[in-house]
Amino acid sequence: MMRYAYVNGQYCRHGDATIHVEDRGFQFADAVYEVWSVRNGVLLDADGHFQRLSRSLGELRIPMPRSRAALMRVIKELLRRNRVRDGLVYLQVSRGQAKRDHAFPRHPIEPTIVLTCKRLDFTAADARAEDGIAVITVPDQRWARCDIKTVNLLPNVLAKQAAHEAGATEAWLVDGAGHVTEGSSTNAWIVTKAGKLITRQADNGILHGITRSRILQCAQTLGFDVEQRSFTPQEAIDAREAFLTSATSFVTPVVSIDNHPIANGKPGSLALALRQAYLSEA
Ligand code: PDD
Repeated sequence: MMRYAYVNGQYCRHGDATIHVEDRGFQFADAVYEVWSVRNGVLLDADGHFQRLSRSLGELRIPMPRSRAALMRVIKELLRRNRVRDGLVYLQVSRGQAKRDHAFPRHPIEPTIVLTCKRLDFTAADARAEDGIAVITVPDQRWARCDIKTVNLLPNVLAKQAAHEAGATEAWLVDGAGHVTEGSSTNAWIVTKAGKLITRQADNGILHGITRSRILQCAQTLGFDVEQRSFTPQEAIDAREAFLTSATSFVTPVVSIDNHPIANGKPGSLALALRQAYLSEA
């Protein structure tokens, strides 16, 4: 089956999709992105991701390249052409193409827009959630504006690779003060022995995950006690439960951190209840 991408107004063969060598996304990581999960043909948390896209672009003073309605039309067409009912949609917008110079181009340029989608096997994600995953901790080596969803992901890439080489699924990043910020591509949560849900406050040290805010709402609806604050790796190791959230992994229990089992080393009940609540609303 032919796979399609969308680049600057054109649907093209995925294998032939290209951008210019002087695209500022390629040269400087001067670009933002979004990832939506698609289940049964429906985009999950569509509003939240569009709002964050517009905030990320605004923070970098890149103009919004299309209206939301126009983007939705492209996304629907791309899903149709690629026959994706369960998977993800990836959108990237860069400042555009210009002669290489660090400062913004003096004259307005057209942003570059790229959209792709792919199928995902959510049964594999369900199986991962049933077993739980292992996490390692590594120093957070990122910049000071992790709240903007930019493609500047090299520290995240190195952290994820370190996790895989250690036989783990995710790396939790630890800041200079010794606190966990978030995962390399997920937000980090723990449940204290007293049963309180803890996740870092949405400051500039983390990406303000759309799934994170949905899970905060689900937790409130279910009557769980929640606190948004930093926690240390030791607090996580001593916790009753740990888990992570993201658009494509939903809620996934963490059963070990740096090879220390969390509680009895099995997925926690709050994490599983939140996963179920989130997916039943999705
Ligand atoms: N990652 N933190 C980081 C650093 C992320 O890259 C992501 C998302 C999250 C979770 O955000 P959300 O709940 O909005 O997906 C947290 C996406 C899935 C990715 O890069 O593929």
